[in-house]
Amino acid sequence: MSLTVYAPASMGNVGVGFDLLGAALAPIDGSLLGDRVTIAAADGGVSLTQVGGWAHKLPSNPEDNIVHQCAVFFLKALGKENRGVALTLEKNLPVGSGLGSSASSVVAALYALNEHFGCPYDKQALLELMGEFEGKISGSVHYDNVAPCYLGGMQLMLNVPGAICEAIPSFKQWYWVVAYPGISLSTAMMRKLMPEQYDKSVVIDFGRYLSAFVHASYQQNAQLAIQVLKDVLAEPYRAAAIPGYDNARAALAELGMLTTGISGSGPTLFSVTDDLATANAAKAWLEANYLTDAGGFAHVCRLDEQGTRRVD
Ligand code: HSE
Repeated sequence: MSLTVYAPASMGNVGVGFDLLGAALAPIDGSLLGDRVTIAAADGGVSLTQVGGWAHKLPSNPEDNIVHQCAVFFLKALGKENRGVALTLEKNLPVGSGLGSSASSVVAALYALNEHFGCPYDKQALLELMGEFEGKISGSVHYDNVAPCYLGGMQLMLNVPGAICEAIPSFKQWYWVVAYPGISLSTAMMRKLMPEQYDKSVVIDFGRYLSAFVHASYQQNAQLAIQVLKDVLAEPYRAAAIPGYDNARAALAELGMLTTGISGSGPTLFSVTDDLATANAAKAWLEANYLTDAGGFAHVCRLDEQGTRRVD
C-alpha cells in the first residue's frame, strides 16, 4: 500500500506582505507545478529515491535531502524507529527559484508521513513542523511558503499562539503570470541584501499597503488592491540582483499588466491581470525575453485553493 501527495508551488510575500503573505499557484493548463512524494512501508530504515525534472539539482546523496531528514525525524518522534519507509520524491520545482521549492518538498513529505502513520499530528502541529524543517534549508523560519503550500489560497501570517496563519479572500478573476528565468538565487543571500533598519516613512508605507491590501481583499475591491500591491521592503534592494527584472517589470506594464513583483526572494516574478489575452501576451513576452539559456518556464496561473492533497 502506497500513497502519493502533491504540494503546490507558492509565492512568498506576494510583493506587499514581506514574510507575512503567501499564495499557492495552479497553472491554468493543468501542468504540474509542485513536488510529489510517494510513501510505502518498508523493511526498516528510510530510503529515498529522487526523480523528476529538477532532481538533478538536488544533493546526490539522498540522505542529505530534507525529505529523508523529515522521515528520520518522524519515525523517531513517534518511537517507530523499528518501522521503515520507502519514499520517492518527484522534484518538479527548481531549487532557489522563489516558488517555494523547499517548502513544497517538506510539506509533501510531512503530509505523506502523517497520512501514512494515521495522522498523529493535527493541522497546527504539522504546520509548525513544516515551518521548522523549511527553516533548516532557507536559514530562518518564515511560513509564507509552507502555509499556502499546505493550506492553499492566500494566507496571512498571524504568528500568535494557536494560530500561525489565516486564509484571506482572494480575487478569483485575477490571473497570476509567473516566470522563472532558469537561474538559482539563495533566499539567505537575498535576505542579506536588505537593510537591517528602515526609515520611519517606509515602515508606515509598508503597514499602510499591507493593511489596505487585506482590507481590499475582504471588500473585494480589486482596484484598491492593485493600487497598494507595492513592495517597499524587499524589491528596492533585490531587483538589481535579478537579471532583467526591472526591464521585464516595465515591459509588462506596457503590455497592460496591472502590477508586477518578485515571487518570494526571486528570481521568479509574478504579474497580475484580470484578462486572459493579456496574461497570454505577458507569458509570451516573458518566454521570449526573461528566460535565460539556463532554462526556465512561464505559466499563467490561478491560485491553488486546495493546497496539499493526496493524489493517489
Ligand atoms: N519571505 C522570504 C523572503 C522568502 O522573501 O526572504 C519566502 O519564504
